[in-house]
Amino acid sequence: MKEQALKRLCEFMVKDESLPLFGFSNLVFGEGDASARVLFIGEAPGANEDREVRPFVGRAGQLLRRMIREIGWTEEGVYITNIVKRRPPENRDPTPEEIAAYRPYLTRQVDIIDPEVIIPLGRFSMNYFLPDAKITRDQGKEFHVGGRIVVPLFHPAAALRAPEMMRQFEGSFRRLPGMISIGRKDGDPFGFEQESKGDSGDRSNSRGISQPTITEEAGERTNIEQESLFA
Ligand code: URA
Repeated sequence: MKEQALKRLCEFMVKDESLPLFGFSNLVFGEGDASARVLFIGEAPGANEDREVRPFVGRAGQLLRRMIREIGWTEEGVYITNIVKRRPPENRDPTPEEIAAYRPYLTRQVDIIDPEVIIPLGRFSMNYFLPDAKITRDQGKEFHVGGRIVVPLFHPAAALRAPEMMRQFEGSFRRLPGMISIGRKDGDPFGFEQESKGDSGDRSNSRGISQPTITEEAGERTNIEQESLFA
């Protein structure tokens, strides 16, 4: 079961003292449907998220969650997480070292959920999937990475700071349902609320295409990922 696999990953991660920010702030693993077809990935928890031990619950989170509902999706039907899963001090940006340390866990989390669509929020999470992309140039565009659709968006906190970014953030968000149904063989308007993928994790049959994981494509193999606990 995907829920069980995520739970085990979370339990393993909570105990990983080698992770930066261990002991400084809570581990905010992520929440939503373990079989979600859409995965939103932010940067790192802030103070509100640290307090509630939930991702995206502050002002930026309220904007994100309002937009999810506005386009007809549900917060429970998607999955929401961050690259770095503990709050950095004073809400500073995550450092490259922190991102690198948390990266194998995100890779494993993506592998388990196995979403069709990944929506990185902001440049840090966008660059995890698209190292050469520029957020101002590429937000709202559709990319294909390891058999998944990746659509980077501005971080909602950035949208809250600048009206022009808000305009683009909302515009790109509202285009998501249309973009994501393109290319689906059945042409469904992304009815993930009605449709259950099951837990097989193998969509090569249902989508008729081979689905290499991001891990495989990036050739990323770490000691952590080979731990049997992650299996
Ligand atoms: N910003 C993020 O990137 N993630 C959160 O969970 C909250 C704010």
